[in-house]
Amino acid sequence: MSGFDAHWLALREAADRRARADALTRMLRRALSGRPHLTVVDLGCGTGSNLRHVAPQLGGRQHWHLVDTDPKLLDAVPGAVEAWAAEAGDTARRTAPGMVVEGGSFRAEVTLERRDLAADPLPLGAADVVTASALLDLVGHAWLDRLVAACAAQRAAALLTLSYDGRIAWWPGDTTDATVRARVNRHQQGDKGFGPALGPHAAQAAAEVFRCAGYEVETAASDWHLDETEAELQQRLHAEWASAASQVDPADSTSVDAWLARRMDLLAAGTSNLVVGHTDVLALPPS
Ligand SMILES: C[S@@+](CC[C@H](N)C(=O)[O-])C[C@H]1O[C@@H](n2cnc3c(N)ncnc32)[C@H](O)[C@@H]1O
Repeated sequence: MSGFDAHWLALREAADRRARADALTRMLRRALSGRPHLTVVDLGCGTGSNLRHVAPQLGGRQHWHLVDTDPKLLDAVPGAVEAWAAEAGDTARRTAPGMVVEGGSFRAEVTLERRDLAADPLPLGAADVVTASALLDLVGHAWLDRLVAACAAQRAAALLTLSYDGRIAWWPGDTTDATVRARVNRHQQGDKGFGPALGPHAAQAAAEVFRCAGYEVETAASDWHLDETEAELQQRLHAEWASAASQVDPADSTSVDAWLARRMDLLAAGTSNLVVGHTDVLALPPS
C-alpha cells in the first residue's frame, strides 16, 4: 500500500486534466513522429490517469506498461479505463496480460506490473517514453539520478507531469496561509520511501539532471485552479495540508486547526479559490 487511494486519485483527475501542459505532449508527439509503434512505461501509474490523458494525444499504435507498488490501485485500473473509454465512445477489453484500448486515433495494449520502484530496478524495458504524473515530488535525488541514467541508456524520452512546485495561493487570503504553506513545503521534503524527497524542487531538479545528460528539456506550469465547485477536493487538500503543517510544528497545531476551520467556513460560504503550483517536464534525448 502506498497511502494513495483510488477515490483521491479520481478526485484530482479532473483538476489534473485541466492543468496538464498539453503543449509538451504535442512536442513529444512531434519528436516521436514516424515511429510505427511506441512503448510507454508509466511509473507510479495509480489507476492509469496518464494513459487516459496521454494515449489519445500521442495517437497510433502503443504499448503502455503501467507500474505501481499498490495492488489496490492496479486492480482499479481496468474499471477506470473501461469507464473512460465508454464515455469517450472508445472500446476497452480485458486480455490475459492486461487490456486493449482502441480509440479513433490510437490503439493501446496495456500491461500492468506491481513493483516497488524505490527498491527494485526500474522496469524500462524497451521504452520509447517514460511517463510519471504526480510521482516526481515523492522521490529523492539519488532515485532521480537513477531514472535519468536509465532513460539515457536507451535514449528514452520522459514526460514527467504534475509535480507540486511549492506554490499555493488563496483568494481570499488568510494571515496563516504563508505559515501553512512553508510547513507543507518542509513536510513535502520528508522521506516518502525514496529517501529525502525532492518535494517542491522536483521539476527543477529533473530538468537540470536531464540537461546534464544531454537532453533537450522543456518545462511548463500545470497549476491547479480550484474554486468552490471542487469542494471535496478542496476539503481533502486543506485537511492534508493542516495535518502536514501540524506534523512539522506540533506545538503550533492550534493555530493550524483554527486556519483549517476558517478555510472550511469560506469553502462552505462559496468563496474559496486557490492555485496550487505544479510543473510539467518534457525531456527529449539528443538527436
Ligand atoms: C500521487 S499518486 C499519482 C498516481 C497517478 N500517476 C496519477 O497521476 O493519478 C503517486 C503514485 O505513486 C505510487 N507509488 C508511491 N510509491 C511507490 C513505489 N515505491 N513504487 C511504485 N509506485 C509507488 C503510488 O502508489 C501512487 O499510485
